Amino acid sequence: GKHLLSLLELSTDEITQLIDVAIGLKKMQKQGEPHHYLKGKTMAMIFEKSSTRTRVSFEVGMNQLGGHALFLSRDDIQLGRGETVPDTAKVLSRYVDGIMIRAYEHTAVEELAANSSVPVINALTDDHHPCQALADLMTLYEVKGTFAGRKLAYVGDGNNVAHSLMIACAKLGVDCSVASPEGYEPKKEITELAMDIAKETGAVIEVLHDPHAAVSGADAVYTDVWTSMGWEEEQEIRLQAFQPYQVNSELMSSAKSDAIFLHCLPAKRGEEVTAEVIDGPQSYVFDEAENRLHVQKALMVALMG
Ligand code: CP
Repeated sequence: GKHLLSLLELSTDEITQLIDVAIGLKKMQKQGEPHHYLKGKTMAMIFEKSSTRTRVSFEVGMNQLGGHALFLSRDDIQLGRGETVPDTAKVLSRYVDGIMIRAYEHTAVEELAANSSVPVINALTDDHHPCQALADLMTLYEVKGTFAGRKLAYVGDGNNVAHSLMIACAKLGVDCSVASPEGYEPKKEITELAMDIAKETGAVIEVLHDPHAAVSGADAVYTDVWTSMGWEEEQEIRLQAFQPYQVNSELMSSAKSDAIFLHCLPAKRGEEVTAEVIDGPQSYVFDEAENRLHVQKALMVALMG
C-alpha cells in the first residue's frame, strides 16, 4: 500500500490535492455535514513520545470520518518489551486499516512501513514531521490565497519541522529561508534534497545564519522550541546559542507588514517567541493547529478510503 513517511514521496499535485480536500472537509465539518468516508475503518496510533495536537487531531479526525482510532503507547504494547518492529507491523496489519506512528528514529518508521500491508503515516520522527508541514502550508494558503512567489522564513532549530517545511515549500514553489545558529542547521542531506526539488519549481531554498536576512520580505515567519523534554543537559548551551534567533516584534518588522506568524506548538513564550508575537494579531498558530485535523482527515481518506 501507499504510506506517508515524508513529503519526499508526494508530488506537488498530490500535496495541493490534499490541501484542497482538507479545505473542503473543513467546510463540511463547520457546516455540520456528515462525511463518514472511513465508516467502519480502524487506525492504530503508536506513540513513543508524548503529544497533544497529533493524538487528539488524529483521533477526533478519525471519529468525524466515521472510523475508530486506537491509542497505543509504546510502553503499553509488546514493542516496549522487545517485540520487533516487523512483527508488530505484520500483526497490526491483520487488525487495522492503517497505522499512525510517532517515533524517535525515522528508520523505525521505514521498517514498520516495509513490513505493513496497510498504510503507515509518520506523525513525527527525528527527521520529518510531514503532517505538520501540510497543515502549515494549508494555513499559509488559506490566509494568502497563493503559493507561487510566497516566502516562508524558518528561524531557529534546524529540526524535523524545518526539514518537512523545506521539502513542502520546494514542492509548492514557496521560497524557504532557514536561519539557524552554527551547529544547529537542518541536516545537509535533507537540505540538498529540498534544493534539488526546488530546481523544478523555481523556489529558493536557503540556509543562513542571519535571522534578519532570512525574515526579510517573508510572508510567513515560523519558529519552533529551542529546548524540550529530554534535552535538560544541553539546555543552557542551547539557550545561549539560540538567543539571537528569538522571534520578537523587532524581527517581525523585517518581514512583510502583513506577514503571518506560525509555530507548530507547543511554544515557550520568552524563549523562541515573545508573548507579544505569538498572542498578537499576526499569529495564526491556533488556526494552524486546527488545520492539523483537516489535513490529516484528507490524508486518512486518501490512504484508507
Ligand atoms: N505540533 C505537534 O506535533 O504537537 P504535539 O507534539 O502536541 O502532537
